[in-house]
Amino acid sequence: GRGGGSVINSGLAPAAAPGQAALREGYEHFDPRAYLRNNYLPPRADFSSEEFVVPWKLRCLAETFASGEIQGRTLIDVGSGPTIYQLLSACDHFEEIVATDFLAVNREELGRWVRGEPGAFDWSPFIQHVCKIEGRGEPWQDKQRRLRQRLRRILPIDVHRAEPLGAPLRPRADALLSAFCLEAVSPDRASFVRALSHVGTLLRPGGHAVLLGALGESFYLAGPARLPVVPLQEADVREALAAAGFALRELRSYAMPPALRTGVDDVDGVFFAHAQKPVGMGR
Ligand SMILES: C[S@@+](CC[C@H](N)C(=O)[O-])C[C@H]1O[C@@H](n2cnc3c(N)ncnc32)[C@H](O)[C@@H]1O
Repeated sequence: GRGGGSVINSGLAPAAAPGQAALREGYEHFDPRAYLRNNYLPPRADFSSEEFVVPWKLRCLAETFASGEIQGRTLIDVGSGPTIYQLLSACDHFEEIVATDFLAVNREELGRWVRGEPGAFDWSPFIQHVCKIEGRGEPWQDKQRRLRQRLRRILPIDVHRAEPLGAPLRPRADALLSAFCLEAVSPDRASFVRALSHVGTLLRPGGHAVLLGALGESFYLAGPARLPVVPLQEADVREALAAAGFALRELRSYAMPPALRTGVDDVDGVFFAHAQKPVGMGR
């Protein structure tokens, strides 16, 4: 009757709220170490062949940043979680890298790595592999030192807010990176598009966006947490980027081989997108 209609028209966006509340509760149980074990140790982080998923992700990032076109003062990484692999090729091209995450436990995990504290996750196999595929003969310790120096801010973020950092980023970022975050925090495709629009406001017009994400995934595990994910197809990624005002430059995808379907999620594959925010979109 009229009662339901008046709630829908109240302007409080009730449709999105229930799914988001369930997600928020799920993330209260997110265990960074379990998440790292599930995704960033073998079999997924196996550097013996480019057929494995982690080397595929690192290759996409290395090739895209190798062009030299994506560079500037600041790069912001949205939903960094407890990981830094996504920043290894990017960090050569920016003076400052800003990492962000919703959860304090993830920001703390990152902080331990930046400060080189005992108990921090060991990213050295990733750093060595990236130095190898970048092919400049750079000692991996140099890259590690450079990323640690440039990763000076680790900020809280909520991509569901129109102002994801709680205040505008001034000046705006020259590039935006986000890996496996937006689809993993959005109850549906509409929410994914809104989140993408929100984080797009952190990027200057003309700036580049680099996204990695899950295809066809409905959940993933992180210790006691079972997080729902909006299952995306490649076409959904294309449409979402267009709807959020980005111009697509490149879209690639990877099919998860059976040996990497370990039960920690139900992911079918991974997408890699390079897009650009058109000049003249002042928002
Ligand atoms: C699947 S993890 C991705 C982590 C990392 N970027 C990677 O590539 O493995 C998703 C991340 O989104 C974060 N997150 C949860 N809710 C969020 C929100 N509302 N806004 C931004 N990030 C959120 C989680 O804490 C988690 O670190």
